[in-house]
Amino acid sequence: MEQPLLEINNLKTHFKTERGRVTAVDGISFSVEKGEILGVVGESGCGKSVTAQSILRLFDEKYTASYEGEIKLQGENLLQLSKAEMEKIRGNEVSMIFQDPLSSLNPVFTIGYQLMETIRIHQNRTKKQARQMAIDLLRMTGIPSPEKRVSEYPHQLSGGMRQRVMIAMALACKPKLLIADEPTTALDVTIQAQILDLMLELNEELGMAVVFITHDLGVVAEVCTRVVVMYLGQVVEEANVEELFTTPLHPYTKGLMKAIPQMDGDRSQKLNVIGGTVPALNAIPSGCRFASRCEFANDLCKEKAPDLQVHEGNHKVRCWHYAEISNKEAARHA
Ligand SMILES: Nc1ncnc2c1ncn2[C@@H]1O[C@H](COP(=O)(O)OP(=O)(O)OP(=O)(O)O)[C@@H](O)[C@H]1O
Ligand SMILES: [Mg+2]
Repeated sequence: MEQPLLEINNLKTHFKTERGRVTAVDGISFSVEKGEILGVVGESGCGKSVTAQSILRLFDEKYTASYEGEIKLQGENLLQLSKAEMEKIRGNEVSMIFQDPLSSLNPVFTIGYQLMETIRIHQNRTKKQARQMAIDLLRMTGIPSPEKRVSEYPHQLSGGMRQRVMIAMALACKPKLLIADEPTTALDVTIQAQILDLMLELNEELGMAVVFITHDLGVVAEVCTRVVVMYLGQVVEEANVEELFTTPLHPYTKGLMKAIPQMDGDRSQKLNVIGGTVPALNAIPSGCRFASRCEFANDLCKEKAPDLQVHEGNHKVRCWHYAEISNKEAARHA
């Protein structure tokens, strides 16, 4: 088999805090094939954004964070690159759309200027060429009259337009991999759908792989081919998208499925319908991390942490009892 575009092995991200060290991402492994759209889901605080930002090593490594494990991009471990080498990867081979588009656009420069800077830093272009490229990119992301918009400032654009500009910036360098951290959560439903269509189009046209982070399992079903489910800094389940929806195995995944808002419901609502609260990072239990919220948990679960194990093919699950639970449930419905 061809080597994956991105391969994460046992990644850990530790933060230095006033109360000592916490591990927000604790031994994550997954891979992304060329041209694939991988979904990463989980409740608020489970480490999705930290994972995304760790891939690009965005946390300050002197004062804030430290990493362990491997993040291999086309076989090369990014965790071993120098700062300068890492700088070349960012916004070139891998780019990212952040959760909050306003905070990542600079209010004092026009969007055209910001786009052109991105283009000129990463590609050898003249000012004139960069301007034309900026306009083309804005048009591609569905911004009307891009020739005019290019000279506007971020505050002159609506939230949806700003998000499109962010996407245009992220695509300016034609990355092999796009990390999209909740790119549509802040937008209204119509704009969400347009942005998702756009991402799918670009994925097809440019063959760009996407790590798609979201709360919204409905969106995952629409755009992703494979899904990783995270809980408290770990992967608890991974499967092809159809498989995950037809045969979810982990009690946590099943809980998330039940929490999917109905079609006419509010898509932006967070998945928080599972009972109980997520343990704090400085009070992680030694057994299964989900045990305190799991109706099936017994002594084994409370004492010993399960590993992520292969169920079948590339369907993996981290639960001592998933087979029994599924059998029981099947019997209940029979
Ligand atoms: N700089 C930091 N220092 C200490 N802890 C941090 C830091 N950044 C994030 N965390 C903690 O890491 C955990 C994971 O946060 P993260 O932002 O990745 O969650 P998330 O899954 O993206 O949530 P959301 O869905 O709300 O965006 C949280 O407990 C958060 O408080
Ligand atoms: Mg986040």
